[in-house]
Amino acid sequence: MSGDNYGIQLAAGHLTVPAESKEPYAADVLASLHEDAALVVARYPQKRSALLPLLHLVQSVDGYVTGRGIDFCADVLDLSTAEVSGVATFYTQYKRHPNGEYTVGICTNTLCAIMGGDQIWDEVSEHLGIGHDETTPDGKVTLERVECNAACDFAPVVMANWEFFDNQTPESTKALVDDLRAGKDVKPSRGPDKVCSFKQVSRVLAGFHDGLADQGVGAGPASLVGLEIANERGWTAPDGGAAKADKGAAKADGKSTGKDEA
Ligand code: FES
Repeated sequence: MSGDNYGIQLAAGHLTVPAESKEPYAADVLASLHEDAALVVARYPQKRSALLPLLHLVQSVDGYVTGRGIDFCADVLDLSTAEVSGVATFYTQYKRHPNGEYTVGICTNTLCAIMGGDQIWDEVSEHLGIGHDETTPDGKVTLERVECNAACDFAPVVMANWEFFDNQTPESTKALVDDLRAGKDVKPSRGPDKVCSFKQVSRVLAGFHDGLADQGVGAGPASLVGLEIANERGWTAPDGGAAKADKGAAKADGKSTGKDEA
């Protein structure tokens, strides 16, 4: 795939798939895809369940969900191309046009927005000269508005290829995208030591581990405050199923469990 389709996407053309995306895979690439797909399919009782990871596998090779990638998934999973396209166009992690090497998602949902996410979006969008779902002409950064990065306790939050950059400012995010475009290694706030490329991360999402899952911290300090308070005060979580079983048994015996029975 060439990079000719990078750059500003027309607002109405974001689903346009270049004609070249339907060119057949080279024999060695196709053989390798089939080998990997067989490993993915073997994880599921029904092979159609492997569609989501297989779409990530296609992205790990092509950088987005190509026409040939859709044909490949349909062929391997005995689905129609319409069924595969229906799934590929439903989830935002699947890209239907050439994607940048780094997807930078700026959260502009309520909490991040009021903590500065809208300002970050405005400034970074202007800095890069692109809008939502558009890619810089060098093919490095695809910018996205995100509806919650699932890290609200670190608002405002930006993600680069789904690695967290917590407590961001317009300046720190502009520095982040500049470093990514310059090819520098950038270190997320949590997780692995550096942000991997979109294709590399797509392969991990397809289920092929890169060995980085245990690198860096998972939960940051803000996420652990509640746990620390609970520990200080001796609070414990109700033990759901076991407590219900106790209660049921006690009722059968006509006894109180001695626990809150509300
Ligand atoms: S609102 Fe921004 S991470 Fe949840």
